[in-house]
Amino acid sequence: MATLKIGIIGCGNISGIYCENLARYSGVQLLACSDLDMDRARALRERYGFPMALSVDELLSRPDIDLVINLTVPKAHSAISANAVQSGKHVYSEKPLAVDVNAAAAVLQQARDRELRIGCAPDTFLGGSHQTCRRLIDRGDIGEPVGATAFMLCHGHESWHPNPAFYYEAGGGPMMDMGPYYLTALVNLLGPIKRVTGISRATFPSRTITSNPLAGQRIAVETPTHICSVLDFQSGAIASVVMSFDVWHTTLPRIEVYGSEGTLLVPDPNGFGGEVRIRSIRDSEWRVVAPIADFLGNARGLGVAEMAEAIQANRPHRASGQLAGHVLDAMAGADISSKTGMHHAITCTADRPAPLPPTYRIGSDGTWLLTEEM
Ligand SMILES: NC(=O)c1ccc[n+]([C@@H]2O[C@H](COP(=O)([O-])OP(=O)(O)OC[C@H]3O[C@@H](n4cnc5c(N)ncnc54)[C@H](O)[C@@H]3O)[C@@H](O)[C@H]2O)c1
Repeated sequence: MATLKIGIIGCGNISGIYCENLARYSGVQLLACSDLDMDRARALRERYGFPMALSVDELLSRPDIDLVINLTVPKAHSAISANAVQSGKHVYSEKPLAVDVNAAAAVLQQARDRELRIGCAPDTFLGGSHQTCRRLIDRGDIGEPVGATAFMLCHGHESWHPNPAFYYEAGGGPMMDMGPYYLTALVNLLGPIKRVTGISRATFPSRTITSNPLAGQRIAVETPTHICSVLDFQSGAIASVVMSFDVWHTTLPRIEVYGSEGTLLVPDPNGFGGEVRIRSIRDSEWRVVAPIADFLGNARGLGVAEMAEAIQANRPHRASGQLAGHVLDAMAGADISSKTGMHHAITCTADRPAPLPPTYRIGSDGTWLLTEEM
């Protein structure tokens, strides 16, 4: 099979793990990297051995780049992705796909018109623990899913991220930042969302950065930072989802799924692994379930590799732009519902992604072996 040549745009905090992991998969080759700050692009090129560090325009105009990975900040995502599609490239974007649903829909349409693919993070739902949860639900181990709860409560990212302002700009906030992990995990487990109801607030009008190098700088908060929402799924299941950057301490779990015959404890969807526990009506205690799949460590980039494999095999990819658009519609819908006082009906629909086959695995030398054959 031919190798897909990749250009990365956005050489910040998260770019390293993509480079590290994609080097494990023979179906792609990292060809060039780019950033508004060319020092960062050059540093990434040197660290991971890219042949080229280029300006964004230079990278997009190269005919030998097949797929662009967009690792810029959220407010730049849709413009960079749209430019890449206009330049004839497939795109895999970090989340969120765009900061508003219309921009996301426009990029998806452009890609359809040009017969190009859009993929989007998160890909954690492809991780071994989340695929195990998926198997348990599909096998009926908790009966018919009734509902779920999902909580991401913390006090924001200004204590550790070197450049945290974007978390408080439009397109940031806990729902846009962390909601993609939680809602995508829920769609993987329960299927597509039908409508959303939400109430949101921003508790602190500004934040003080305590991480270096910007410690002491203040950030104006432009987005809700505490969002309570209820999701109705097409299947009839109902989930309560709370996302907050306003909470100092909590004991709440990450995700629980309740079924007619038992409960499933789902690990943190911001990771690929973590303990899966189940307790059915027949169990007197919780049972730990051994993972049925590989990719339990930090496998960020698995969505890109799976998409590259899908492009070559001419089949749908799993961490798709359509799925990300669906999740974005639901996340934005929580805020729209809070403002209007009405339920928000989801119009950007997506299918539940297919489970990963057991043939996807990590070889003894750490390489990623991705094949759809059973
Ligand atoms: N940091 C994390 O732990 C983490 C985890 C998962 C996902 N993400 C997501 O990854 C994305 C990037 O996050 P990050 O932490 O790496 O941010 P970052 O600020 O460290 O890096 C972003 C980079 O993009 C560059 N950039 C911004 N606009 C650009 C443009 N128009 N053209 C070219 N380059 C541009 C910036 O100069 C910067 O180097 C975000 O969407 C974030 O939500 C981050």
